[in-house]
Amino acid sequence: MKPSFSDYSAQIEKYLRDMTYPSGDLESLYGPIAYGMTAGGKRLRPALLMMTADAFGDACEAALRPAAGMEMFHNFTLLHDDVMDDSDTRRGRPTVHARWDVNTAILSGDTMLTLATEMVADVPDAILRPVLNAFNTMALRVYEGQRLDMDFEKSDSVSTDDYIRMVSFKTGALLAASARIGALVGGASETDADKMAEYGMMLGIAFQIQDDWLDVFGDATSFGKPIGGDINNGKKSYLLLKGLSAGTSDSVALAEAMKLPAGPVKVKTVTRIYEKMNLSEICREAVAHYSAKAISALKSTSLSDADREPFRRLVDKLTGRRK
Ligand code: IPE
Ligand code: IPE
Ligand code: MG
Ligand code: MG
Ligand code: MG
Repeated sequence: MKPSFSDYSAQIEKYLRDMTYPSGDLESLYGPIAYGMTAGGKRLRPALLMMTADAFGDACEAALRPAAGMEMFHNFTLLHDDVMDDSDTRRGRPTVHARWDVNTAILSGDTMLTLATEMVADVPDAILRPVLNAFNTMALRVYEGQRLDMDFEKSDSVSTDDYIRMVSFKTGALLAASARIGALVGGASETDADKMAEYGMMLGIAFQIQDDWLDVFGDATSFGKPIGGDINNGKKSYLLLKGLSAGTSDSVALAEAMKLPAGPVKVKTVTRIYEKMNLSEICREAVAHYSAKAISALKSTSLSDADREPFRRLVDKLTGRRK
């Protein structure tokens, strides 16, 4: 039987913990990188990459360094995201800009992007070009998604379709590229690589909707991030958009509540309206919808039922996640 998601994430965890960085007078550049990279986290993207490489080509070893590179890229985006979202806590610890400063988050983040590119490029020459194409296309998508995410805060004409496009960019693209690069490392056909990328994309959309839900209804300790950040930032989360577009008196109350100054009263007021509008159930349905799309992409690959199993389980695991 193939290893499970947690076997792959444990392997990645060890690899990341064993990585060394320059010290001495550059401790101020690399220290925050080591801090971010050893703070835990689910290791979703690298584990997905390894799982895909292993499913198509028993290529787990060859996938390890590019996988770690994808986790490095993810953590780079988090350093900058936490500046943009003014978030002081992640994985239950101060974020890099909170512990050091914004300049540190910018420059250590830039460094992580280059380290990530180097690590992802550590693949056989025969697949280097498609791997780098997948990586760079994905990176642009993430920045585009992050830009839209910020622009949506100021806009009152954001539709659910706009939201899905935005999260497919900021979150889906990285999961899609992780699966695609894993498929390339495993020697999958182009068709299978496309299907696996589709699986990653749909999983990523479901994952972000769940993240939006956890930002309101999660437990800060297990989630590792403070509750209510999206409400305070005026993020066009899935909950807010569904609430605003319901066209009821609750929608009007919600729009009013979103004008309150950031703080616990705003978070509490908006959360009560979300509860009244049964938005948890609407999120659950959306997560189930995109999870089903991930499964149908998976089913369209040439993988055997046995080889599909860890991917199926991953969908279930993430659907019920609390962190
Ligand atoms: C956080 O990603 C950013 C989102 C796309 C929501 P994760 O929830 O995968 O964060 P870690 O790496 O497990 O901490
Ligand atoms: C995550 O969006 C997307 C990226 C980091 C690219 P969020 O802003 O929702 O992520 P968290 O909640 O801070 O982890
Ligand atoms: Mg953000
Ligand atoms: Mg954020
Ligand atoms: Mg979030």
